[in-house]
Amino acid sequence: MLNFSYSNPTRLVFGRDAELQVGAQTLAVLGGKAKVLVLFGGGSARRTGILDAVEKSLEDAGFCVIEKGGVQPNPRMGFVRETIDWVRDQGIRAIVAVGGGSVIDTAKAVAAGIEYEGDCWDLFEGRASAEKALPVLAVLTIPAAGSEQSIRCVITHHGTKAGIGAECLRPAAAFINPDRFKTLPALQIGAGVVDMFSHILERYFSNTAHTEYTDGQAEAALRTIMEFGPKVLEKPDDYDSWCQIGLAGTFAHNGYFGLGREEDWACHAIEHEISGWNESITHGCGLAVVIPAWMRYVSPMAPERFVSFAVKVMGVEPQADDRATIELGIAKFIGWLQLMRMPTTLAALGAAECPIDAIARHCCRKGPVGHLKPLAAEDVEAILEGAR
Ligand code: NZQ
Ligand code: ZN
Repeated sequence: MLNFSYSNPTRLVFGRDAELQVGAQTLAVLGGKAKVLVLFGGGSARRTGILDAVEKSLEDAGFCVIEKGGVQPNPRMGFVRETIDWVRDQGIRAIVAVGGGSVIDTAKAVAAGIEYEGDCWDLFEGRASAEKALPVLAVLTIPAAGSEQSIRCVITHHGTKAGIGAECLRPAAAFINPDRFKTLPALQIGAGVVDMFSHILERYFSNTAHTEYTDGQAEAALRTIMEFGPKVLEKPDDYDSWCQIGLAGTFAHNGYFGLGREEDWACHAIEHEISGWNESITHGCGLAVVIPAWMRYVSPMAPERFVSFAVKVMGVEPQADDRATIELGIAKFIGWLQLMRMPTTLAALGAAECPIDAIARHCCRKGPVGHLKPLAAEDVEAILEGAR
């Protein structure tokens, strides 16, 4: 196991009516009344009533609320810049994001951008690092990206989807009311469940030895997601099942499963190229296509990990030949993705025409991606060819 130092200051408020505590928690974070921005997406938050509930909670606590909607899935830098300009002179002291990864990431980018004198995209291009940010509070409406507790922020600009990670981006508080997930469309349920599953996989597939504790925790979390994902897809009003998915999803990406180990992240790097190339592609759907192809390509180089995955997560009976065990594990995983109604090929994703060669080169423009097996552009190309 590697040495580590871990701090997660995000307060997690979980359960029915969690969003009613936003006002009190914002007061606890800011220490007094102030002007706050409530940010949301394309309208679901207003339709479902959660936006009104959050704003009332803030107003009841004495805050002056300014709202702004319009964040799109796979959020854009143009909107971030526009919002920074809009709020910079207003004396806003905190941002309350009501939505999923796209809204929360936009809030994080604005929060860091306001504290940075140059153009916010510098932070994503590595020309500067995010050192300071306004407090962000995240009211989750879709369990998926894990941004409500993560240090990460992913924004798209002219076909490039770029992510940054900084401690100052971790939200001050996350509010998760699993009863709010019942309005999600099937595609977002499936994609969200696959995304949280992948956040654990990206940490589970590691070369670091002696990680039995977090391996066991990860395997249990993955099995839980596998069990309850299909249940919420079938019965979106199943509160108790959503509780399992909501909790697994938020821990999947808060760093816990990565403690003391090198993480991989090749599948995310490749997927971000696909949804950067075509912004209408949902992140979790892209992952459902990339991960099986990555597994087929990389598993011969790290068979032990894949045997563990097959046996301890997918429940495969160990075969005499490791390769057979691994193949069965991957086949069962694909079966589960299909049960979650996810595409598992580029054609089914609607990306049959994607320029694989250019995507692979762009993916590796800063060097190889992934750690279990560092991948050069030729490897990424082979993986995507295998996903056709
Ligand atoms: O825009 P509205 O109308 O709100 O509709 C949204 C959106 O269309 C809808 N939705 C959300 N909650 C709903 C709902 N519809 C009905 N009822 C509800 N309760 O769902 C759609 C997708 O929303 P989005 O925020 O895009 O989903 P998600 O949470 O999957 O976020 C995806 C984004 O997060 C990034 C992805 O790359 C992508 O840009 N990621 C961020 C990470 C991070 N910051 O740590 C890590 C992830 O790996 C990921 O890359
Ligand atoms: Zn993800």
